[in-house]
Amino acid sequence: MIQVSAASLLIEEPYTPGLSREYVAKTYGVALDDVAKLGSAENPFGPSPKALAVVREASARIDIYPEWTARVFREAIAAKFGFEADRIVCGAGETEVISLIIRAFAKAGDSILMYEPCFPIYHIFAENEGRVPIYVPMGPDFDLVVDRYIDTLRKDQPKIAFITNPHSPSGKLMEEADIRRICDAAADNTLVVLDEAYIHFSETPGSIALTREYSNLIVLRTFSKAYGLAGLRLGFGIAQNKALIAPLLAMKPTWNLGQMQIAGGGAAMADDAHVEYTVKTIVEMRNYVTGRLKGLNRFRMIPGSRSNFFMLEITDDSLDSTQAFNALLERGVIVKDCSVSFRGLGKRYLRIDVSLKKHMDRLADALRDIDSGKHAAKG
Ligand SMILES: Cc1ncc(COP(=O)(O)O)c(C=O)c1O
Repeated sequence: MIQVSAASLLIEEPYTPGLSREYVAKTYGVALDDVAKLGSAENPFGPSPKALAVVREASARIDIYPEWTARVFREAIAAKFGFEADRIVCGAGETEVISLIIRAFAKAGDSILMYEPCFPIYHIFAENEGRVPIYVPMGPDFDLVVDRYIDTLRKDQPKIAFITNPHSPSGKLMEEADIRRICDAAADNTLVVLDEAYIHFSETPGSIALTREYSNLIVLRTFSKAYGLAGLRLGFGIAQNKALIAPLLAMKPTWNLGQMQIAGGGAAMADDAHVEYTVKTIVEMRNYVTGRLKGLNRFRMIPGSRSNFFMLEITDDSLDSTQAFNALLERGVIVKDCSVSFRGLGKRYLRIDVSLKKHMDRLADALRDIDSGKHAAKG
């Protein structure tokens, strides 16, 4: 019989993706355009039209193998951030880069530090091959409690320490001074991974520059969020310390990015105006929806998100997050049920994207309707 080499590859916790707009439109009889898809933190404006044109053009070359390191894309990233291209590794989304990092820098039995809750891919990949996730609990209203993170970092000396900034699912932003404190506290053999998937929405420049000061730091970015290219699959890791990047390049599947990804990524990054428009609108809508969700009795928005989503607490004990999720679906609104999508949260929270005004209105109306109790969830 064929044997799986890592026993724990048999774990039964695959990633649970969000539902599609088509499925909800068909199942609940809502016009496709009206379905509010607020569960995957995608860009409601889609990608830059300039990037789309370049992707189409690149499709003429799909009979030709791409350059295996995505050289032109790496050069474009390098130029944008003022680094050498050999300090960058690109992947099919950040997710691929995360998997490479975990495999390259932690072996079976090694520990990997993260907040609980966090982006589930960190612990799913960690556990896949027998590594051990260590969780730092968050504080009231998902405060990051950096001192607690640092205490655990010092005590357990994990091989890898993940930070997400802004954090998911809470959207809370960590100050750069705290990121420095974490890098300072990390032991020589601990790699700090700063995941900046949502950094644009915080309206801060992020902390890629810190990699010049800290040889134990790698920063990750994705094109799935502000760049609107979740379906193209593009992300990268950047570190001034070449010794962090070289093993990732050596381990990655040789042609992990295709012609369209390599060309599209560079074009997307060149269109600052598209990202600026996206961020400006999302920040406006974050304020708008915060106003619209005030005064609910059964729900409370967790304050302080600096991302393109926020958490909603269900304060009424007679309603749980799965019932609320289903009640919203029936009203054409797709969100994330945190009890399914995030470890350690129980049944009291939803994560909801900030999106177009019409979707925020549909969400607010649906919540008000459920709040009134007249239309209790079916279960
Ligand atoms: C915190 C965080 N990091 C990384 C990713 C992965 O993004 P990608 O689409 O680039 O794989 C996500 C996706 O939802 C995320 O929430």
